[in-house]
Amino acid sequence: MPDSMSLPRHVAIIMDGNGRWATMRGLPRSEGHRAGTEAARGIVTRCRELGIGHLTLYTFSKENWGRPADEIKFLFDLLVRFLTRELDTLVKQSIRFKVLGEMDALPLATRKVLGHVIAKTSRCTEMTLNLALNYSGRDEILRACRSLMRQGVAPEDVTEERLSAELYTAGQPDPDLIIRTSGEKRLSGYLLWQSTYSEFAFPDTLWPDFTPDHLDAAISDYQHRTRRFGLTSDQITA
Ligand code: IPE
Ligand code: IPE
Ligand code: MG
Repeated sequence: MPDSMSLPRHVAIIMDGNGRWATMRGLPRSEGHRAGTEAARGIVTRCRELGIGHLTLYTFSKENWGRPADEIKFLFDLLVRFLTRELDTLVKQSIRFKVLGEMDALPLATRKVLGHVIAKTSRCTEMTLNLALNYSGRDEILRACRSLMRQGVAPEDVTEERLSAELYTAGQPDPDLIIRTSGEKRLSGYLLWQSTYSEFAFPDTLWPDFTPDHLDAAISDYQHRTRRFGLTSDQITA
């Protein structure tokens, strides 16, 4: 059980390895995605129990549109089923649901369910669950720049705070801990602006096998690190 005093305020996860999990078992990739949603449910519940304020799950990147059409369709159908089934639990646990990414480009049925779940949980206060969906970190920064330009903000008034306020994560703390499962060690465009001082964990576990115990272990490891934010060790301990 991680120490409750120094919990990360925001945990962001790249849920990777569903396809490999399925292939290793001689199953279609879709079965990996299905099993992956079960893992996601367990991690949401665990974060809520621990009292983590913000959890972000990388669910679909802009680059994922390049995958076979039937896999994409399966993923969005699965998402609709998952959210429909989980809505009551989200409300009961007071979990606010948000989407990071371009929602307009998603299939209509998906958009409808997302909008419904966002509205129904908008007053929940215990935790924020963000799904990064149709998300790209570079695109997010470009959109923020365009928005500032459209507002006629003068170049000297473009500050980190103002740009942050235009990102999908506006108002939320930057992720303290970013976990990528499956042994891959890259960001794949995830939270590029927000990850400036994040700590990273790259467990080898494939996402469908990632349990609350694995999460606890990653958080405990995070709690033993010294974050320096550019300062010296002496300044940090002073
Ligand atoms: C992550 O698992 C889920 C999505 C990207 C939607 P993958 O589908 O990338 O699984 P691998 O990397 O092929 O094993
Ligand atoms: C990143 O995983 C996106 C999600 C987990 C949704 P990918 O499997 O798409 O990333 P790459 O292609 O291996 O970098
Ligand atoms: Mg992958």
